[in-house]
Amino acid sequence: MFKTKEALIPYLLLVAVVAAGLIWHESENVPGLGRTVSIGAITVGGPFTLTDQNGVRRSNADFRGKYQLIYFGYSFCPDVCPTTLGVMSQALDKMGMDADRIVPIFITIDPERDTPAVLKTYMAAFGPRFVGLTGSTAEIAAVEKAYRVYAKKQPLNGSGTYGMDHSSVMYLMGPDGRLVTFYDELVSPDALEKDLKAKI
Ligand code: NI
Repeated sequence: MFKTKEALIPYLLLVAVVAAGLIWHESENVPGLGRTVSIGAITVGGPFTLTDQNGVRRSNADFRGKYQLIYFGYSFCPDVCPTTLGVMSQALDKMGMDADRIVPIFITIDPERDTPAVLKTYMAAFGPRFVGLTGSTAEIAAVEKAYRVYAKKQPLNGSGTYGMDHSSVMYLMGPDGRLVTFYDELVSPDALEKDLKAKI
């Protein structure tokens, strides 16, 4: 599923930090990811200015003061992305009022096709809370780098379209914009809800 070694390195570093974190923080277990960890030293995230599904420019500073649950993917994704966004949506629905303290954010890795108009339709499927963000190729490349996201276009045979190989991680960022923890796409809505409640 991963075809470019160089592009994988930042993502593998992230995974390596999780593995290292396990040694120090083995008290909690989240089904799916199998673990959740505190991460002190690693730098994930950073400033960005992108365009939301309503065509409004949004920067990271706009989300300060709230937790952010950020997922990178693309709306044409046939399986993992919609499933993961569904898990986020269900977990937040279960949280009741606490969900108001978390902004779910979807950042596209496919800005070529994911225009604000496309994202507007797509995000609506997951509920009104979601912010969908797109931008120029350069803006998306920069935010992918900051979050150690792996993404690579994969032409599909003969069909004239393409898919995207990509890492699949939900990042929980704190009200100060710093990484709190992250989850992989196998986490269940119940486990995610429980862990989010514990973290915020
Ligand atoms: Ni996907």
